[in-house]
Amino acid sequence: MTFDRTLKIAPSILSADFADFGREIQAIEAQGADWVHVDVMDGHFVPNLTFGPPAVKAFRQHVKTVMDVHLMIAPVDPYIDAYADAGADILTAHLEAGPHIHRTLQAIRAAGMKAGVALNPGTPASAVEHLLELADLVCVMTVNPGFGGQKFIDMTAKVHALRAMIGDRPVHIEIDGGVDPTTAPALIEAGADVLVAGSAVFRGGSVDQPEVYGANMRAIREAVAKMGAAA
Ligand code: DX5
Ligand code: ZN
Repeated sequence: MTFDRTLKIAPSILSADFADFGREIQAIEAQGADWVHVDVMDGHFVPNLTFGPPAVKAFRQHVKTVMDVHLMIAPVDPYIDAYADAGADILTAHLEAGPHIHRTLQAIRAAGMKAGVALNPGTPASAVEHLLELADLVCVMTVNPGFGGQKFIDMTAKVHALRAMIGDRPVHIEIDGGVDPTTAPALIEAGADVLVAGSAVFRGGSVDQPEVYGANMRAIREAVAKMGAAA
């Protein structure tokens, strides 16, 4: 994985057909997804429950781009090796998931993955100030984590602050929750480069109508490009 700040769309397979993950992943990649976002929930850190390491390992067989695994679990550290073995390229842990995020980020890198740190809406940008040398990605949650399809919470000011703090460091800023063509442009303008989108990508499409996924991703890219042209 080489680092760049170009716009990347990472569809969340939380909004895919749970009976057909292989074909869903193939469909979104064929339609232009840059990364594949996998939401791991434990029914404890967040109220919902999704995939464990064996499921994520099975997804890996279909992912040709980048497998971006978002852990919404606590504790994190006992599971890092299992997600490395499952083939995660990027493993993101929540800052709020335990007292030792610094150690967690070190352990993720030591296991051979890129390390991400996610911030709930109530957590300030300043919380990552002393973690930037250990992180490859900061994920700014624009919903309270746990479910797809929730209402967007505006975190533009946090993204601005993070972008200034990151400077020239090779750290991605990822946005997760309620991203669509109306919410995406201001976030990219503020300095984000990775947009996770579940409902806004999968809405109206299916593995038999994958072109809808392509059109939905294009709509996000075009909304961002339009804003760039207007600026
Ligand atoms: C929320 C997850 C998100 C979610 C986004 O807890 O981390 O990745 O799938 O879904 P949308 O785009 O529908 O808000
Ligand atoms: Zn996510």
